[in-house]
Formats: sequence, structure tokens, C-alpha cells
Amino acid sequence: MNEENLIEKIKQLSKKYSSTGQDLSSYLDGLLYADYIGYWNYIHLDTLLSLQTPKTDFPDEQIFIIYHQITELYFKLSLIEIEHINKNGRNVIETGEDLGWNKTLGIDLFIEKMERINRYLNNLIDSFEIMIKGMEKKQFLKFRMALLPSSGFQSVQYRMIELRSTNLSQLNPHELQTSSKNLKTMYNNLYWKHGAMDLKTKKKTYTLKQFERKYDERLMKLANKMKGGNIWAKYNSMSPKDKKNKTLIKLLKEYDININVNWKLAHYKSAVKYLKNKNNSTAATGGTNWENFLPPKFQKIIFFPELWSKKEKENWGKNWVKSMLK
Ligand code: HEM
Repeated sequence: MNEENLIEKIKQLSKKYSSTGQDLSSYLDGLLYADYIGYWNYIHLDTLLSLQTPKTDFPDEQIFIIYHQITELYFKLSLIEIEHINKNGRNVIETGEDLGWNKTLGIDLFIEKMERINRYLNNLIDSFEIMIKGMEKKQFLKFRMALLPSSGFQSVQYRMIELRSTNLSQLNPHELQTSSKNLKTMYNNLYWKHGAMDLKTKKKTYTLKQFERKYDERLMKLANKMKGGNIWAKYNSMSPKDKKNKTLIKLLKEYDININVNWKLAHYKSAVKYLKNKNNSTAATGGTNWENFLPPKFQKIIFFPELWSKKEKENWGKNWVKSMLK
């Protein structure tokens, strides 16, 4: 870099720091002493690789843990994009530089975000083979007993994806969807809360109680915040012309199917492989009646019902379930 450019850079830096009442020269001192960053520091590799701590000595337990972690990271990638939609893009950062955050949610950005989310989810759904084919059943049935009462059911990011995508009433069992507009009632009627209750005693499973203790307050706040900000609400607030955009509608439908049918079905396949025997089913670690709870055909959770025909909604997940159980 020539001297002129260097001076120009220093001027820009000085402007940046003085705009927030700070002193460039102190930062330059810091730079003099700062060490170079290495790949391992930047992505926290040692920490990342220290997060797999099996509860037993069965080697395949590592696959189980790592695949859950991979899934959570994909959920996080999806949530980053979903949040952009929820917040209409983001504010300009203080320097005023365009880092791609300061776009408002026009049709092009909405489409770009939905494309990214579906790309993540398609990859995730395809990767389920890691679990369905790649883990010894014999080992799983033993090491799972050391995980009680935890269950993927307690994935808070999965619940955040749901709450950030649609109106709360859509996540209630169908027979209750029109019964109340009260936020607390609708929250307490979430389909997964109903799914984790003992059918006879109507008591909540311990897995659900544990989850509620940790996350209910946070999730209820989110549900409230998302009233006008979830993906469906954002779509509905667009102009009549944008709402008819075929690409956007196709992407929203793909997303609905990806979360509520394809992912659920890939996941259900793993439950069938590991928990079902010829004559009986093994109880799940989370204690749900999983053969009724997991298949998308039974819960029929649909984020964007107005985008589907009556027939499509009636057959939600059915063909997939049939072909799977053959
Ligand atoms: C061998 C592999 C797996 C088996 C046998 C299995 C089994 C189950 C079962 C039986 C349930 C119902 C709740 C319960 O009673 O425990 C459940 C729920 C759930 N699991 Fe898994 N699971 C597996 C892998 C995974 C993975 C890799 C993830 C990724 C995070 C995951 C995430 C979830 C989620 C989000 C739910 C709630 C689904 C809903 O509400 O519809 N599971 N799982």
C-alpha cells in the first residue's frame, strides 16, 4: 500500500473511532501488541471438539451426539435467516457501511432468505441417513438408557423455528385452533405440550416439565413478539402484487413441507428403525406416545394453510406415511 493510501486509511479509521468518542491511537497501540489470529482460535476448534462427551463407552454414542449437534447448527443457520425476515432486515451498523444488513424486506430479499433456509433444510433432511443407516441399533438401545429423560423433543431451536414461522393458533391441535385468541391459552395449547401428556392421567411427562421450567418464559415472550413478525405475518403484509409472486409462494410451500413433513418424516424413520420391533415398540426417552405423536399425518402442523388447497391439507403427510410403513 502506498503512503497516500495509508494516510487515507488512517483518516478513515480516525473518523470511525471519533464518531463513537473513542481514540484511534489507543487502538493502534492495541494492534501493536495483538497476536495474529489462527484458524483454530477463530472457529474455536478445540472447544468445538471438546463438546462431545458420551455418557457410555459405546462408540456409536458419538455419532448420536455429533449428529444432534450438526442438526442444531443447521437450525441455527436457518434461524439467522428467519430472524432477518422477522425483523425486516436489520439496521445499518454504526459506521454507516453497507454490510448487507441494511436492506428492507422487499420481495427479492424475502426470496433470497427463503432460498437459503430451504437449502439448509434440504441438506439436513438428506443427511438423516447418518442416523438411519449409520448407527448400530444394538448399541443405541443400550446407550439411550443413559440419556433419560432427555429427548430431541427438548430442542428449543426447533420450537423457535415454529414460533418464528407462523401464528400461534396454527401450532395448536386442530380442534382447538379457533377456540381462543388469548396468547397464554394458545401457548399452553401448543401441540407438543398436548403430545407430551399421559393420555390417561393427563399429567405432563417429566421431559416436558423440565423443558417448560427452562424455556417457557423465553418462548412465551417470543410468541408474543412474533404476533406481527412471523414469516406468515410478513408475507401477509406485502403488497397484493408481491403476495402473488410465484417464486415466493413456491419457496414458502417448500419450507412448510420441509419442516412439517420432510424433516418430521426423516426423523420418524429413525425412530421407527431404532424403537420399533416386529411385535412391539420401545418406549421413547421423552415418554410421548411417539407412534401417534411423530407422524406429520397426525399432527398436521401447517404453517401457511392459505397456500394449500383443501385436498392438499386433508392429505398432509399421508402419502409419505403410507409409503414408509409398507
Ligand atoms: C435414533 C435417533 C432418534 C430417535 C430414536 C428419536 C426419537 C424421538 C422420539 C421418540 C420423539 C418423541 C418425543 C419423545 O417421547 O422422546 C422425538 C422427538 C423429537 N426429536 Fe428425536 N429421535 C432421534 C434423533 C433426533 C435428532 C438427530 C434430532 C435433531 C435435533 C431430533 C430432534 C427431535 C425433535 C425436534 C423432536 C420433537 C418433534 C416434534 O415435536 O414433532 N431427534 N425423537
